[in-house]
Amino acid sequence: MSEQPPPDLEELRQLAAGAPERIAATSSTDELSDLETQLVGRASLVAAARRSLGSIEDPKERGATGKAINDVAVSIQAALDERKSALASAERDAALANDAVDVTLPGKAPLRGTHHVIQSTMDEIVDIFVALGYDVASGPEAETAFYNFDALNIPETHPSRLESDTLYLDYGDEAEEVLLRTHTSPMQARYMEEHQPPAYVVVPGRVFRADAVDATHAPVFHQIEGLAVDDGITLGDLKGTLAHFAKEFFGPGTEVKFIPHYFPFTEPSAEMHAYTNGRWIELLGCGMVNPAVFEHVGYDPDAVTGFAFGMGVERMAMVRHGITDLRTLLDSDRRVLEQYK
Ligand code: DAH
Repeated sequence: MSEQPPPDLEELRQLAAGAPERIAATSSTDELSDLETQLVGRASLVAAARRSLGSIEDPKERGATGKAINDVAVSIQAALDERKSALASAERDAALANDAVDVTLPGKAPLRGTHHVIQSTMDEIVDIFVALGYDVASGPEAETAFYNFDALNIPETHPSRLESDTLYLDYGDEAEEVLLRTHTSPMQARYMEEHQPPAYVVVPGRVFRADAVDATHAPVFHQIEGLAVDDGITLGDLKGTLAHFAKEFFGPGTEVKFIPHYFPFTEPSAEMHAYTNGRWIELLGCGMVNPAVFEHVGYDPDAVTGFAFGMGVERMAMVRHGITDLRTLLDSDRRVLEQYK
C-alpha cells in the first residue's frame, strides 16, 4: 500500500459544515449533480479520506475516524438528496407549465378562400336572370370573324374589325379568320342556331380587346350577354326586364333611363343609364334584335321578335362598389379585395 497521509478530519468537518449552503445555492439538477461529484465523487475529499484510512495503525482510531468520515458523507448525501428531489419537482412543474394548453384561447382560424369580386358579381347577375327563367350558356373565346362580326350585321368596314381594336389569332392558312372575341354577342348567333325559339339566355364570359390597361380599360374583361326571343317581344319587355335587373342589382329604388344609341345587331338600340350614388351612369347596351341577325341564324323575322343586351361585369362591380380604378380589381392584394365581398 502506498504511503498516504492520514485523513484530515478537521478539513472534512469544514467541508461538511459548508456543504448545506453550497447545496442550497444550486439552481438546477445538472448543477447539483456537478456539485455531488465534487463533494462525494471519486475525486472528492471524502473519497480520499476513505482511501487513506488504511494508514492508521491503531484499529480503534481507525474505526473512529472511519465513522467520522462516514458521518460526514451521510450528512452531505442527505442534503444532496433532499435538494435533488426539490429541484427535480420544480423542474417538472416548470416543464408542465410550459407545456400547458389554454383551451379557452381563441383558435387560429385558417384563411378561407372566396370568389373574386368579378366572379361573384357575374354569378349574382346571372342569378337575377336565371330567376326570370333564362338559360345560361357559354361560348368559345377564340371565335371566328363570322360569329364575332358578320352574323351580327357588323359590316366589313366597321372600325372595330381593325387590328388596332381586335386581337387576331394566327392559325396559318385557315380559310376563316379567327380572333379573340371582342364581346359575348357572338353567342346570340350561336345560341339561336342551336335552339329554336322561344330563346331566353344569358352568356357570361371573358372578352378581349387590343387595349392598354388604364383606370377604365383592360385587354381582358368580362361581359354578360342577354337574349330574349319569342312571339311578340316588345321594347316594353326590354325596358321592364332591364329596369327589374337594375333594381335587383343596385337596390329597389334604382331609376333607369334609355338613351338612343347605335349597334349594328339591334334596331332600335339604346344605352341604359341608372341613377346611383347621386349621378346618372351608363350601364349597358341593348336593343331589339335586328331582323338581319335572325336571317343569319335561320329564324323567321316575321314570326319572332326579341331583345338583346350586353354589359361589362367589371363596370357593374365598379359602379356598385364606387371603385374608380379598374386596376383595383386586377390587383391580388387581399386587403383590397376583401372589402368587396
Ligand atoms: N356587344 C356590345 C359591346 O360589347 C354590347 C351590346 C350592345 C350587346 C347592344 C348587345 C346589345 O346585345 O344589344 O359593346
